[in-house]
Amino acid sequence: MHSFHYSNGSLHCEGVSIADLAEKHGTPLYVYSSETFRDRYTRLDDAFSAIDHEVAYAVKANSNLSVLRLLAGLGSGFDIVSGGELFRVLKAGGDPGKCTFAGVGKTREEIEYALREGIYSINVESEEEAAFISQVAGELNLVAPIAFRVNPNVDAKTHKYISTGKSENKFGIDFEFIADAYERASKLPNLNLKGLQMHIGSQLTSVSPFVEAVEKVAPLAADLKEKYGIEFFSIGGGIGIVYEEALASGSESWWINQPEETRPLTPEQYAAAIIPTLEPLGLKILLEPGRFIAGNAGILVSKCLYEKKGTTKTFKIVDSGMHQLIRPALYEGFHEIVPVTESAGAVESVDVVGPICESGDFFCQNRQVSSFMPGELIALMSAGAYGMVMASTYNSHPLPAEILVEGEQAKVVRKRQTLQDLVEAEEV
Ligand code: LLP
Repeated sequence: MHSFHYSNGSLHCEGVSIADLAEKHGTPLYVYSSETFRDRYTRLDDAFSAIDHEVAYAVKANSNLSVLRLLAGLGSGFDIVSGGELFRVLKAGGDPGKCTFAGVGKTREEIEYALREGIYSINVESEEEAAFISQVAGELNLVAPIAFRVNPNVDAKTHKYISTGKSENKFGIDFEFIADAYERASKLPNLNLKGLQMHIGSQLTSVSPFVEAVEKVAPLAADLKEKYGIEFFSIGGGIGIVYEEALASGSESWWINQPEETRPLTPEQYAAAIIPTLEPLGLKILLEPGRFIAGNAGILVSKCLYEKKGTTKTFKIVDSGMHQLIRPALYEGFHEIVPVTESAGAVESVDVVGPICESGDFFCQNRQVSSFMPGELIALMSAGAYGMVMASTYNSHPLPAEILVEGEQAKVVRKRQTLQDLVEAEEV
């Protein structure tokens, strides 16, 4: 469920009209719902209340400072992947003692920064990295808390670009080598073997790959606890969200009416399927959700500029594109497109495309959408995760503004870039 809905024929985020926001702040515009962020965090947290656990929100999904502040206020920890993300978490008032630092290519500067700030754990992706972290920690007279990321070689059955838990992926240490990696790391002077981590992929819509991975790795976690006294097991993120009927899925009745076999994965199902294997470990279980918390909490609002009818297609040309929401171009991602003013029901088959000089610059191709005309506003649903964070200024388009709604209030949490901002760091 989420907090985007039509009210009197006009799309709203909580109590705020999207058309009013577009009028006041212009388009393209990202709009987020505080209520949805809160609801998603709380539901997942509650689903695991039977065991010792912590939600470490994956900052990469949406790293706006106000979003991080909101989640920090709920007690969230953070899964970060760069010094930049750590900087954001600290700026937002997050606790570094609740942060895990992942990623295959951490630099010396980033490792020093994380250690100095007292990070909870660095999640290490190779033995070379472990040796380097021990050396850096030694130079700082510190002991580095680490976990290895294990690659369990489990098929997440998701798009190949967001599948991470197979041995052909660059992530983690192969299951076959992981016990030796711990053994060797236990002899390094400045490491504290604190946990074990895995993450098999993103946008998983069925629970079975999670179950397979947890069942495969749990005995290893138990073994590492006994040998080295590790205290946590992070099972990563990856819970999928609804993209296809995103707007309808905001209401409880939609969920109730979904046939059992097609019902999207819920946090309760996810928890029920894996807690029986996790509980006997007696370890703290870390969760690293990004998309599940942020995805349905945001939309991208865009204005239709032109309609172009070709011999085979109708193109709706809008003022946003792949530079501001790259998921359709990069992962064949589906984002539902709805008119901001509810239409009378006419639908047409169109390509919705942006202004960028690339044929990959589309939001949909040959899709039946509710009709909209030049001058009208549309919303791209489920754009709260991996939307603005992946935006670029390609073709020198300034970045859009971001709005965070709370009830009847709307706050600009990121100003729209200006043309001057685009060239600020450059010299002639
Ligand atoms: N933990 C680790 C180690 C990760 O690599 C990721 C995502 C997460 C947690 C969070 O995964 P989530 O819960 O959001 O699925 N840009 C792509 C998604 C890339 C995900 C990368 N890693 C997209 O738009 O689909």
